[in-house]
Amino acid sequence: MQAPAKINLTLDVLGRRADGYHQVVMVMQTVDLVDVVTVSVNRNHQTILLQGGSEEAPPDQTNLVYRTAALVQEQAQLPYGVEIELDKQIPVAAGLAGGSSDAAATMKALNHLFSLGWDDKKMESLLARLGSDIPFLVRGGTALATGRGEALHSLPAAPAFWVILVKPPFGASTPQVYKALKAKSLPEPLPWPEEMTPENIPEEGYSANMLKALRTGSYQAVLDAMGNDLEKVTLEWFPELKVLKEKLVCLGCDRAMMSGSGPTILGFTDEEAKARSIAEKIAKETETLNYRVMVARTLGREEADEWIVD
Ligand code: C5P
Repeated sequence: MQAPAKINLTLDVLGRRADGYHQVVMVMQTVDLVDVVTVSVNRNHQTILLQGGSEEAPPDQTNLVYRTAALVQEQAQLPYGVEIELDKQIPVAAGLAGGSSDAAATMKALNHLFSLGWDDKKMESLLARLGSDIPFLVRGGTALATGRGEALHSLPAAPAFWVILVKPPFGASTPQVYKALKAKSLPEPLPWPEEMTPENIPEEGYSANMLKALRTGSYQAVLDAMGNDLEKVTLEWFPELKVLKEKLVCLGCDRAMMSGSGPTILGFTDEEAKARSIAEKIAKETETLNYRVMVARTLGREEADEWIVD
């Protein structure tokens, strides 16, 4: 099963909730930078055997893939074991939801292998227990996420474009980034319902503009509507990310922005050849800095769904 990375087209932070999470409004998009999760059944015992992963995402019991398999075993009362091989390509702690996508792919694969008959809604609600942005990776494509990120509404597909993803050799901790954000001083309780729809999200945010842009189907309108409230924390911590954003635009990207809580910086273009040439240049210019440079294109919901390869 291929597990695609997500990028944020927008990320609005509305305020801090009583449970410590932040209420957000985001437009998320899957791209075709993927991890590969290979799942097989072991009918001889009930152990979960996880192999592969990476130094930053080791194949142990803390890995979201392991925790997802354990959750499925428990919920479906499976008397069998599972063996999972995790091939990681998506950088870890990067703002690309790689671990979340691995978790979603694991559940989809187990749902298929054991014919559990769980629909997307059921998988999304189970996976919301393990992390706020995992439910989005069940459906993929272009979606509005509200609440703490787990409440989803599918949106018209974004126009296809290319993304240059540049990941510096350090990570950004999502809880620390949220903690550092002096969330706009808002009345408590927050004046919005936790789960919002495309019709009632706050007018003044990036996301409301993005919904209008998506309706036009225009790549330029989508670029103009992009924005991420968490940039003001992560870019302040790591000023080199500001330089990186400028560099991407200088090299020909139509726009550059940070994804999620960072630190991955995204550069956008609608031409594949241009994306590859910019990626080559940025890789060369940052050679000594140990940055990882990747190229991906937007991945629609149907394409993400087609990828069961058991
Ligand atoms: O839900 P998840 O486990 O991915 O969140 C990790 C941490 O990030 C949370 O414990 C919280 O500190 C922070 N977070 C937040 N508001 C969100 C999502 C995450 O404050 N909407």
